[in-house]
Amino acid sequence: MNENHAKLCSSPEWASVIQDEVLPELAGELDLGEAMLEIGPGPGAATEWLCKRVTHLTAVEVDGDAAAKLAERYAGTNVEVLVGDATDLDRPDGSFDSVGCFTMLHHVPLPELQDRILAEAYRVLRPGGVFVGSDSLDSEGFRVFHEGDTCNPIDPPRLLGLLRRLGFGRVEVRVDWDLRFVAHKPSREPEGED
Ligand SMILES: C[S@@+](CC[C@H](N)C(=O)[O-])C[C@H]1O[C@@H](n2cnc3c(N)ncnc32)[C@H](O)[C@@H]1O
Repeated sequence: MNENHAKLCSSPEWASVIQDEVLPELAGELDLGEAMLEIGPGPGAATEWLCKRVTHLTAVEVDGDAAAKLAERYAGTNVEVLVGDATDLDRPDGSFDSVGCFTMLHHVPLPELQDRILAEAYRVLRPGGVFVGSDSLDSEGFRVFHEGDTCNPIDPPRLLGLLRRLGFGRVEVRVDWDLRFVAHKPSREPEGED
């Protein structure tokens, strides 16, 4: 993460955007269940909002230093912070009622790794569970902001296609100043053709 990004992501201004604007609109009406997985929490802007809405929040962060800071902040709470790579989650199928990933997909260097994160989100969700996320859209300014850093914004139509192909239903991909999505894992696997 470059310096611009590190400063913004840990700022109170960014926390306010995520907690007062993005998450209430995106997830305020969703039933996130009891057990939620957050992918790529970074300094925890979304973690703070999510942990008040579920019984147990597991946060998987690939950066060991960021994970250690977050683990210290949430020690003794309902948040468990793990160091791990969301392309290969060390969790059984169907472990979570909900999965969230906020402002992290553009930090994943390759499209095929983004695909694996989405596939892992599907795998670890229980049938009937919900996957929710947001990210930034591509723009020249966004690229300049990320100079020297990983910057691989996901194209909204590609995201929609991937979520559908993985098997998610009731998929919404919304584009405004940012990208937001909600996708449900069906309660039953689709029946095969006769
Ligand atoms: C820009 S920060 C976003 C932090 C927070 N979710 C927010 O909305 O403010 C993206 C985070 O995703 C993490 N990340 C990137 N690739 C990851 C992966 N494969 N597995 C887990 N975390 C990852 C990065 O280390 C970084 O902390």
